[in-house]
Amino acid sequence: SVVDWDISAIEKGDFKHFMLKEIFEQPLTIENAFRGRINQHLGTARLGGLGIPNFELRKIKQIHLVACGTSFHAALIGKYIIEDIARIPVFAEYASEYRYRNPIIPEDTLVFVISQSGETADTLGALREAKAKGARVLAITNVVGSTIARESDGGTYIHAGSEIGVASTKAFTSQVTIMTLLAILLGRMNYLSTVKGMEYISELEKIPSKVEKILALNEYIRNIAATIKDCKNALYLGRGINYPVAMEGALKLKEISYIHSEGYPAAEMKHGPIALIDKNMPVIAIATKDPLYDKIYSNLQEVRARKARLITIATEGDTELSKISENVIYIPDTLTNLQPLLTVIPLQLLAYNVADLKGLNVDQPRNLAKSVTVE
Ligand code: G6P
Repeated sequence: SVVDWDISAIEKGDFKHFMLKEIFEQPLTIENAFRGRINQHLGTARLGGLGIPNFELRKIKQIHLVACGTSFHAALIGKYIIEDIARIPVFAEYASEYRYRNPIIPEDTLVFVISQSGETADTLGALREAKAKGARVLAITNVVGSTIARESDGGTYIHAGSEIGVASTKAFTSQVTIMTLLAILLGRMNYLSTVKGMEYISELEKIPSKVEKILALNEYIRNIAATIKDCKNALYLGRGINYPVAMEGALKLKEISYIHSEGYPAAEMKHGPIALIDKNMPVIAIATKDPLYDKIYSNLQEVRARKARLITIATEGDTELSKISENVIYIPDTLTNLQPLLTVIPLQLLAYNVADLKGLNVDQPRNLAKSVTVE
């Protein structure tokens, strides 16, 4: 069904802020994003709103994902997921850059603009630019009937319900869920077997209950937040698919707590940011069990050697990270490509609690707007 915009849907209920309510809605909103769009038997997905028959979709040679802010981070994650599962080259770019740099859009390219509101001026500008070049432009939006939804050639609604907090949370995980469905759909037309597709689908179905488990850590995460709330800077690290998640964690913190923070690929730290690391710099690292675990572990030993306050996101059962971290947040395991849906949750909670402990206006941070309709 379409998004429910009635008043009951935009009340905070028992939650102190809309942002917290929206973070806690994610088990449901992630499910809403994939419900009715998966086929367990065939191990595939369907996105009817794209309006493109499968025999045409399988000819796609390139994908452009264009967005701003948090939606851009969902696009970056989409690049990792789609390239890995479907083996189709993906370019993710800020809409403000894409629209003015005369982008090359070869035939058999699909352009997706991603926008929670469907009204962001730069994203709309990018859509119009791609259409002017004759490309087929699809939209991934939350707001039914928004300008971007109307001007696109088709697309997908994320069905996350109204998002009120200026800092986007539930829309992000829904966008990433759609990226996953798209990757499975395109993958099954190319290199992905039924069995592999089925594995992705069944793991995706387990994500909502795993998110629930992470949400239960809120009090623990609030205690960690108390230890970093007065710092001036923070560094977020991740590798592979968790690198864009690190960027999103840093964006959440800067948006609502006004602490300067940056997301970096962990291995790139040695080419600059390491110069900033001392005991006053908290480092928040995503170091879950995946093929790059050993690599990031050695990056984090470098951080530890410089006395930074290290907070790690680890997979349940990990026994190594507690040896070098001040705090470890343990989360359930899943397939590497699905990890962002879990690893971002503790980072949302961390940012929320830091801002709330500082007594800031979490839902309406200074200088920011929910939807930026001017350039
Ligand atoms: C603003 C909001 C962000 C959002 C961005 C893109 O900057 O404060 O939370 O991610 O716009 O918005 P969109 O609606 O296009 O996803």
